[in-house]
Amino acid sequence: MPLLRLTSGSFGQLRTFATSSALGKRVKTFAVYRWNPDEPDKKPYTQNYQVDLDDCAPMVLDALLKIKNEMDPTLTFRRSCREGVCGSCAMNIDGVNTLACISHIDQNLSKPSKIYPLPHMYVVKDLVPDLTNFYNQYRSIEPWLQRDKEAVKGKETQLLQDVEDRAKLDGLYECVLCACCSTSCPSYWWNGDKYLGPAVLMQAYRWIIDSRDDATAKRLSKLKDTYSVYRCHTIMNCTRTCPKGLNPGRAIAQIKTLLSGIVKKQAPIMDPAGLDKQTAQN
Ligand code: SF4
Ligand code: SF4
Ligand code: FES
Repeated sequence: MPLLRLTSGSFGQLRTFATSSALGKRVKTFAVYRWNPDEPDKKPYTQNYQVDLDDCAPMVLDALLKIKNEMDPTLTFRRSCREGVCGSCAMNIDGVNTLACISHIDQNLSKPSKIYPLPHMYVVKDLVPDLTNFYNQYRSIEPWLQRDKEAVKGKETQLLQDVEDRAKLDGLYECVLCACCSTSCPSYWWNGDKYLGPAVLMQAYRWIIDSRDDATAKRLSKLKDTYSVYRCHTIMNCTRTCPKGLNPGRAIAQIKTLLSGIVKKQAPIMDPAGLDKQTAQN
């Protein structure tokens, strides 16, 4: 079993990948983090690739795909949608955690673009971080609707939600679970095993305030310890870095007000089971 390397570890020598293809006038260097689990004794290093921007689409993911397709098939990274909706291509680009598919290539040709995996995570290979802990934490908040008041249990039913209650989910449901925010959070770096981190906490809040969900008390009580939520010190790196423009720092602050009892979850404006009851009466 190969060892995994932490991205914050020290680096070996810098290597340059010289491409043999004829390059145009607008050539940009991409300095990319490399580490291969099949060569565990070799230190991580940065490999330079030169990309002709006149022959490349505008996003960083386009450049990485060009490198992989035309220069070096061993370069490993995750991607799927190339539209900013799957969250797979999260990485650290020029010092910022973001999605490669919606990040424009910096057109300053004199400055290499530095591309690393998400920070303070174990690395599976090259730009692929190990998200096992992140997904386990996501599973721990039970990210699905929980009901205990259905008129007829086990029956498929439509749950009602007022427009105003629905609006409370805006800015939360759009999260693509890319982990850019959690891996930019110093508290998560140091206590990632016990502190849930901004991405997972924002999703916890998304289910806590859903007017159709009945498990609010259970959800809050699971978060009531010194680590799960309270390791957030409102540094706000999370909100600053989110490539979808969301505000996980605010969601965490809202959870804290609910946990402290300062604020209570409001009763649903519309009875979620109202339609079901009407059908039963007719
Ligand atoms: S809140 Fe933003 S940065 Fe965090 S996981 Fe969701 S989309 Fe990614
Ligand atoms: S606000 Fe909280 S979750 Fe966000 S970066 Fe700061 S400590 Fe981390
Ligand atoms: S490839 Fe899906 S978010 Fe970038």
